[in-house]
Amino acid sequence: PDGQLKDALSRPLHDLRISVTDRCNFRCVYCMPKEVFDKDYQYLPHKSLLSFEEITRIASIFVAHGVRKIRLTGGEPLLRKHLERLIEMLAKLRTIDGKPLDLTLTTNGSLLARKAQSLKDAGLTRVTVSLDALDDAIFKRMNDVDFSVNEVLEGIAAAEAAGLGPVKVNMVVKAGLNDHEIIPMTRYFKGKPHILRFIEYMDVGASNGWKLDEVIPSSQVVQRIQDAGMPLVALDANYTGETAARWRHADGSGELGFISSVTQTFCHDCSRARLSTEGKLYTCLFASHGHDLRALLRDKEQHSDLAIANVISQIWQQRTDRYSELRSQNTPGREQKKIEMSYIGG
Ligand code: GTP
Ligand code: 5AD
Ligand code: SF4
Ligand code: SF4
Repeated sequence: PDGQLKDALSRPLHDLRISVTDRCNFRCVYCMPKEVFDKDYQYLPHKSLLSFEEITRIASIFVAHGVRKIRLTGGEPLLRKHLERLIEMLAKLRTIDGKPLDLTLTTNGSLLARKAQSLKDAGLTRVTVSLDALDDAIFKRMNDVDFSVNEVLEGIAAAEAAGLGPVKVNMVVKAGLNDHEIIPMTRYFKGKPHILRFIEYMDVGASNGWKLDEVIPSSQVVQRIQDAGMPLVALDANYTGETAARWRHADGSGELGFISSVTQTFCHDCSRARLSTEGKLYTCLFASHGHDLRALLRDKEQHSDLAIANVISQIWQQRTDRYSELRSQNTPGREQKKIEMSYIGG
């Protein structure tokens, strides 16, 4: 397959996000609220998960189609047993022009202090860590499992020390819950090598009871930071289709990012495909239906890589997703149930 695969809106395929588990040890109120993800919640049985061999096979086909970046997600990806083995396998893949992949992972940081070095040794290139507050009480209210800020900060430091930096720190901002942490978080990360990114709270899945008035637009976050005496300057994107708009402190003390999927949608050049824990391919974070690649992998009639590559090309070429844009235009959304973020992986 050639590397010029484009979807129906001329968007290339650049990123593959792979969810390696639907489980998480946190119960963030905006993602896996306890009322839904309780002790009776049915997670996927082990045999439905893609094996590391299956993941690597699919990933190699995507890389042959032009993918340059692979991000492991979940749930909490570090809960998947022997994840380092998968990273070693993926780290051997080369892009169509012979370069190593950008191989990264989004984690809640709870196991990072322990695992940073082995992840680096296995070939991971970077990590992104979620942290929604510096204040312990607020952070605990958000993760809902009594996990404290310090342990996440230790994870971030360990990742930086292991050479997995610059670490990006993701803060989901939910009005009335943690928006008072915007300034303390900005001050704390100013002058450190990490890149703090503010994420507009999104209407993913069907569990979090999302309301538009709980979203703080990024433009307001920028304003609040400047009003607090920290002037910012806009930067150019690193590449087209980047989720975050980049800014820097005017005094040279570091970079910030703003992910505004509600108020400044970025569907027009969205180049991300998502592979769920059980091997379904989703062409949008808000899709209600995925394409079952695992069925092809496990079919009695063995399919060649080329045959699977052709299926993937067809799916991508027919892709028209632009959910966030349609939401912002107030076009009636899909009636079907959206899938949970912990299953599709952010
Ligand atoms: P970098 O490569 O480090 O810039 O990472 P990223 O921004 O692609 O990934 P990350 O996992 O850190 O995601 C940050 C936030 O952006 C999360 O809230 C994601 O759910 C959200 N996000 C990522 N990709 C998309 C997307 O295609 N659409 C929407 N609406 N949100 C996305
Ligand atoms: N809105 C915005 N971001 C979310 N995340 C999880 N749920 C939501 C939501 N409803 C974030 C996590 C993590 C990233 C992968 O997605 O905090 O940083
Ligand atoms: Fe777990 Fe991340 Fe979801 Fe929080 S946002 S519940 S850490 S998967
Ligand atoms: Fe891409 Fe869908 Fe997100 Fe738009 S809403 S940026 S199409 S994943």
